[in-house]
Amino acid sequence: MRDFKQEIAGLIAGLTVIQDAGLDETSVSALIEEPADETRGDYAFPCFRLAKALKKAPPLIAADLAAQIAEGISVGAGGMVARVVAENAYINFFLDRALFATAITRETAVQGAAYGSSNLGEGKKVIVEFSSPNIAKPFHIGHIRSTVIGSAIEHIYRFLGFETIRINHLGDYGTQFGKMIVAYRRWGKREDVEKEPIKTLLSYYTKFHEEADRDSSLDDEAREVFVRLEQGGAEELALWQWFRDESLKEFGRVYKMLGIEFDSYAGESFYSDKMGRVLQEMAEKGLLQESDGAQIVDLAPWDMPPALITKKDGSTLYITRDIAAAIYRREHYDFHKNIYVVASQQNLHFQQWFKVVELMGYDWADDCVHIPFGLVSLEDGVMSTRGGRVVFLEDVLNKAVARTREIIIEKDVNTDDIDETARQVGIGAVIFNELANNRIKDYVFSWDKVLNFDGETGPYVQYSYARAASVLRKAGAISGAGTDTTAMPGDSGSVIPGLEPDAAGGCGLEDAMHPDGLEALDGLRDIEGCIDCAAICGDEAYALEKLIYRLPMVIKEAGEKYEPSILTRHLVDIAQAFNRFYHNEHILVEDEKERNAKLRLVAAAKQALKNGLALLGIETPERM
Ligand code: ARG
Repeated sequence: MRDFKQEIAGLIAGLTVIQDAGLDETSVSALIEEPADETRGDYAFPCFRLAKALKKAPPLIAADLAAQIAEGISVGAGGMVARVVAENAYINFFLDRALFATAITRETAVQGAAYGSSNLGEGKKVIVEFSSPNIAKPFHIGHIRSTVIGSAIEHIYRFLGFETIRINHLGDYGTQFGKMIVAYRRWGKREDVEKEPIKTLLSYYTKFHEEADRDSSLDDEAREVFVRLEQGGAEELALWQWFRDESLKEFGRVYKMLGIEFDSYAGESFYSDKMGRVLQEMAEKGLLQESDGAQIVDLAPWDMPPALITKKDGSTLYITRDIAAAIYRREHYDFHKNIYVVASQQNLHFQQWFKVVELMGYDWADDCVHIPFGLVSLEDGVMSTRGGRVVFLEDVLNKAVARTREIIIEKDVNTDDIDETARQVGIGAVIFNELANNRIKDYVFSWDKVLNFDGETGPYVQYSYARAASVLRKAGAISGAGTDTTAMPGDSGSVIPGLEPDAAGGCGLEDAMHPDGLEALDGLRDIEGCIDCAAICGDEAYALEKLIYRLPMVIKEAGEKYEPSILTRHLVDIAQAFNRFYHNEHILVEDEKERNAKLRLVAAAKQALKNGLALLGIETPERM
């Protein structure tokens, strides 16, 4: 897609006075604003900065420059700009709506599923570590955040052209497995674990803590067992492996429901044999200090508590494994960025070990990024695994699907496959709810909210998509393009003249496919032969087109800020703009050219919604 702001910057920077004032295209572009009030144009350039250099009042400069640019436009140098108006100290630029409408609808049709993607990240690897639950512990509503936010960030980076590696850094190691093994040996039953692994293992773990409160020798026993596990004791390893396998089966069910996959499940245990060399390296670099038999890295100069690297008994810790993992990833993947999507409660942990890696002399410490997010609590207080106060993620997803099914039946929703639609919409609702707000905000989990489908929710956006699909289906029926309702414009074949990249004859669109320069613009004008662009130049249509145009920039921004909610909100905007257009315009009108133009825009909106939702991990039902 062409960058209209940049083109306008080019027009301005092409003026000799601007060059004399020492501004180049980049600095001009940085000054250009996008006025919220559309009477001020699509783009506006403030002239305050030029006053000093040109020794003139800004409004005079604006008037003068606007006249010069208008002259250029009159001889065809304006590109997409139709009109330039000086207003006070500003030069306001108005785009040619017909050309804009054509460019947007054409670009979305030609690019299809790739619309909004880029090659920004070509040749660069990005690791996204997300989800990372602890085995033998509930996969609960708290984990949904890392899982869903992380997955969206990964999708966005892949769409921006980066090679991504999805890592699930399972919490599958540590002293708690000593406790779990001790508990299982004392009170466990194999059949019970097999029947319901996580709930059963959790009950052992809870019992362990109750008993250990009375009898502290249990804790010592658990520590010894963990040391044996870490040294490769066969019995302990077998139990641990079994706990892990059973846990992964449960996690796998949830990932499958969410449509999430990982490239690697290298969790904490994966680094147990890679720690020796890291410890040695830290010692050689003079970073380790002894404290009460434990080894620490002093971080006082950076106002942080010391990083505890090994305990008195020589066993390693969570932080040690994170350091070993980062070094391994660097050597193994040669990452451009190594991203951790982990709760903000662990801010200090990440600050500490990023600092340790930096002190080890690794300049790539700067390429490690912690992406924090806020806490989820329950309406009756904070979640507590030990207290048994948890909401299982699997239950949330199942309930959402079941509730959606009820609504579909209640409202007699148009679908050929109730179960499939209920699945797509129910899961979509949960994901969307997670991604709707700034990730850093804490929030209270509420069943009512997740299952509420009114307002700015996932089902609303999905419904808008299905509505667009339905209009295009009906159009196909009108034009007699056959009964194949799966071939939708913007996806593949088309019922709308001029949408097919290889459309034979008639509309002469091919030349306009890679618009650069004036011939391309003429090419765009040509299609007026079979499409009446005026039909999609009204305010509602134009507002929708502008949102679709901005989608690629929004995706980029969401990636740069690691903030999927920016995209989520933009999709709500597109859905709302689409619905306004849909309500105010009769789309399937008699006049063929008018109908074609409107259908092109419907197809463009549909494609934009589809691509955006796919990045969030949300499916798009064709009927709803
Ligand atoms: N397993 C940890 C937990 O559930 C999260 C792991 C985060 N990732 C990391 N590299 N430390 O709290």
